[in-house]
Amino acid sequence: DTPSSSPPPSSSPAPASHLIGSKEDIVKAGRLIKTVNGCREILVLYHQGTLHAMDMRCYHAGGPLQHGDIEEFNGRLCIVCPWHKYKITLAEGEGLYQAVDDPTVKPLRTHWRSKGVKQRIHKVTEVKGSVYVTLNDCSEAIESDVYQTERYRTGSIQA
Ligand code: FES
Repeated sequence: DTPSSSPPPSSSPAPASHLIGSKEDIVKAGRLIKTVNGCREILVLYHQGTLHAMDMRCYHAGGPLQHGDIEEFNGRLCIVCPWHKYKITLAEGEGLYQAVDDPTVKPLRTHWRSKGVKQRIHKVTEVKGSVYVTLNDCSEAIESDVYQTERYRTGSIQA
């Protein structure tokens, strides 16, 4: 085996991963935004001992998720968008909402439902105190993708 064909040592990040910063700094800051691949704005956050990464702009209308509160709904941790309070699960990027069981029955009874994955979640890894993000390259469109496009940045899509 030549050295170039050897697998990388397990302590190295995957080749497609992007350095975000030191874990210590992210833990201190709680949240950090980084532009990855020259164009994708990623929010990396640290909450209750876990690092998460997702598209920074909310799938609904491009709200700045870095200013959202983190709360638990139906046992799932969500970031709450500061613009219209949409709830997005940290782990999967699902949009959660409260559905009314039967609008004719008073008082109204509701339960939590998922709209499916709406926000693109990315993979975070930590190697020797440094934090890396690997972009989620799932080819299926996810709604938050639209706010990562040139059309959005140049103002052709209004938030
Ligand atoms: Fe996030 Fe509307 S932009 S809830």
